[in-house]
Amino acid sequence: MTLPPSCRWTGDHLELLDQRQLPGAVVFMQLQAWQEVAEAITSMAVRGAPAIGIAAAWGVVLAARVGEELPIAIEGLRASRPTAVNLAWALNRMESAIASSGSVDVEALAGVAAALQDEDRLLTQRLVDHGVSLLNQGCRVLHHCHTGAIATGGVGTALGVIASAHARGVLRHAWLDETRPRLQGAALSAWELGCLGVPCTVIVDGASGLLMRRGEVDAVMVGCDRVAANGDVANKIGTYNLALAARAHGIPFYVCAPGSSIDLATPDGDAITIEERDAAEITHVHGVLVAAPGAQVWNPAFDVTPAHLVTGLITEYGVLRPPYREALTSLALPNQL
Ligand code: MRU
Repeated sequence: MTLPPSCRWTGDHLELLDQRQLPGAVVFMQLQAWQEVAEAITSMAVRGAPAIGIAAAWGVVLAARVGEELPIAIEGLRASRPTAVNLAWALNRMESAIASSGSVDVEALAGVAAALQDEDRLLTQRLVDHGVSLLNQGCRVLHHCHTGAIATGGVGTALGVIASAHARGVLRHAWLDETRPRLQGAALSAWELGCLGVPCTVIVDGASGLLMRRGEVDAVMVGCDRVAANGDVANKIGTYNLALAARAHGIPFYVCAPGSSIDLATPDGDAITIEERDAAEITHVHGVLVAAPGAQVWNPAFDVTPAHLVTGLITEYGVLRPPYREALTSLALPNQL
């Protein structure tokens, strides 16, 4: 089955795939206003770092169509989620386009948003090709969260590597962390790989240590929401634990990082804002209370994996190896310091 795009522009409004309804139904939301796009990002109807950047770019186009104050729309969209730098990256690109044209030309802005989406398709394909080159014949790869096609404008990042490794006959099996509390692994990654016919098994996040100890994992492959200048990586909560377990078992831990997720203005992981989300994501499952009534909850949506635990950063430029500060600053990244 062909996977749907994360979003598509109709010429007068944005159709956005509602990821919250997957795997049950493929439903596109019809968005007419930037505020609806911001709400879709905050409520995780659209999620995955590249996809939220692309959606936000289209949000600026929607604001321009109805003559709204663009700085207000851009700041509103920027505030919709704090951790993935792709959001700021895409909005900065839209801001530069507005500044360089000196006026608001809706068609030109739609062209910039479409170019961002196209660029993401091309660059994620390149990243995926570099990623597959790291995997050995018959490998079993463990993945966290969801980094597939609908989290991007193209083929995905880490999950794209896994799907491509399968298509090229290199992959033996994919292990998918279910990824509490939003279950992106069980709901989205398993759905995408199922559509593509890739053999995979969902595990609870806490099972990865046992799996590694039993010798069932050859590599860990994850995505990211922001890479700091020293190579520290923010990604879905639980990624850090996985990196520690991988190091303890001598298993390579790879992070897929498109250039749009690399943030040289952030010196290290401590400077990355970690989003904390509603307690109900933990206390309730599909609206049913599963925690003791009144139990206190802490719900950070991301964590930071220190650079020294990362075996390689897979980018569209190639695979970067430590020391990451030098490797990252040598990249010809557009829109960076
Ligand atoms: O909270 P989410 O679901 O937006 O978190 C997503 C992740 O952490 C992904 O791993 C990351 O955005 C990379 S998507 C290519």
